[in-house]
Amino acid sequence: MAKIDVTSPENTYAIHISDGLLKEVTQRPSEFQIHHPIVVSNTTVAPLHAQAFADKLNAPLIILPDGEQYKTLEIVAGLYGDLLSAKADRKTTLIAFGGGVIGDSVGFAAASYMRGIDLVQIPTSLLSMVDSSVGGKVGVDLPQGKNLVGAFKQPKAVLIDTSVLSTLPDSEWANGMAEIIKHGLIADPALLDTHLHTRNHATELVRRAVQVKVDVVQIDPYEHAQRAYLNLGHTFAHAVEQVTGYQWAHGQAVGFGLLAAVHLSHDLGHCDLDLVGQVEHILKHTGLPTHITSDIQPQALWEAMHTDKKWESGHNRFVLLHEVGQPFIMENVSHEAVINVLERLRVE
Ligand SMILES: NC(=O)c1ccc[n+]([C@@H]2O[C@H](COP(=O)([O-])OP(=O)(O)OC[C@H]3O[C@@H](n4cnc5c(N)ncnc54)[C@H](O)[C@@H]3O)[C@@H](O)[C@H]2O)c1
Ligand SMILES: [Zn+2]
Repeated sequence: MAKIDVTSPENTYAIHISDGLLKEVTQRPSEFQIHHPIVVSNTTVAPLHAQAFADKLNAPLIILPDGEQYKTLEIVAGLYGDLLSAKADRKTTLIAFGGGVIGDSVGFAAASYMRGIDLVQIPTSLLSMVDSSVGGKVGVDLPQGKNLVGAFKQPKAVLIDTSVLSTLPDSEWANGMAEIIKHGLIADPALLDTHLHTRNHATELVRRAVQVKVDVVQIDPYEHAQRAYLNLGHTFAHAVEQVTGYQWAHGQAVGFGLLAAVHLSHDLGHCDLDLVGQVEHILKHTGLPTHITSDIQPQALWEAMHTDKKWESGHNRFVLLHEVGQPFIMENVSHEAVINVLERLRVE
């Protein structure tokens, strides 16, 4: 079993990672910071995993609908009502049991209900294990855009039982892999070894990928500087998501975005062509896209990029790579350079 201690501005907490962890948690909940628990999950994960877990803890289970379209203030408002009915108070530990949508929305409820109650994250998708459950960002979407309302809420513990990944659909596995590949490119070449990219190696894969995010977040908890490296590939990804009306899953868009980012890095003279080939190979191996389709206009992507909230005062910013483990920020990349990359990666 792996344990990673995280120091945040508010507290210190542990991320526990093992195959079969939840059994131990139900046997000794207080060792895992669980007191007076209320479990919140969704209609997919509850019957697979959360119901049995809540039953063993003798805890109430609140079940939300499944899907990004339910990561809203309305759902959180309903959850506040359910928490009142379940007599949740300042002594309650709220347990967010599900993927990133559950982690973000239940985390936001925990940050705000009665000015904040304790939160334990039990991420169940690969993406939520390596990305959304670590770092303390919680929140919901507005009709105008994703993640526009939120807070920083550090959990009391993050409990990752990789055995729950056995029920995760392949497409969701690939989505999580995109962020793992990103973490590999930013900081850990071992994560780029495709031999590790199987569910048999999930515990090792998740442990290493979590470590990368923890290292970055600890240096920069409020996202001032280094944390921006986690946006590698995301400028391209957000543009693809926007232009396709969210027809592309986030992980697919990130996969493509990573390839676009290394192409751009190479075009601007910062990395070897080998790295471009390596990323393309890994994406293909994972079943992530290496192209955009011809109906997607490069110019439309360029324009969509300019709505990125991370581009301050009109200066565009890209995370690029010198090599694996050497990310850097580049501002004011030319229109021509970006369009060239997108034209090259567009199938006719
Ligand atoms: N807070 C952050 O720092 C941060 C970072 C990255 C992403 N996010 C957010 O995370 C969300 C995406 O997370 P996600 O990819 O986990 O999406 P998700 O929560 O929608 O989960 C994907 C699907 O997998 C299902 N699922 C989850 N675990 C399962 C399991 N073990 N077995 C079977 N099915 C399972 C879910 O019910 C859902 O249908 C987005 O809302 C995104 O904005 C937040
Ligand atoms: Zn992402």
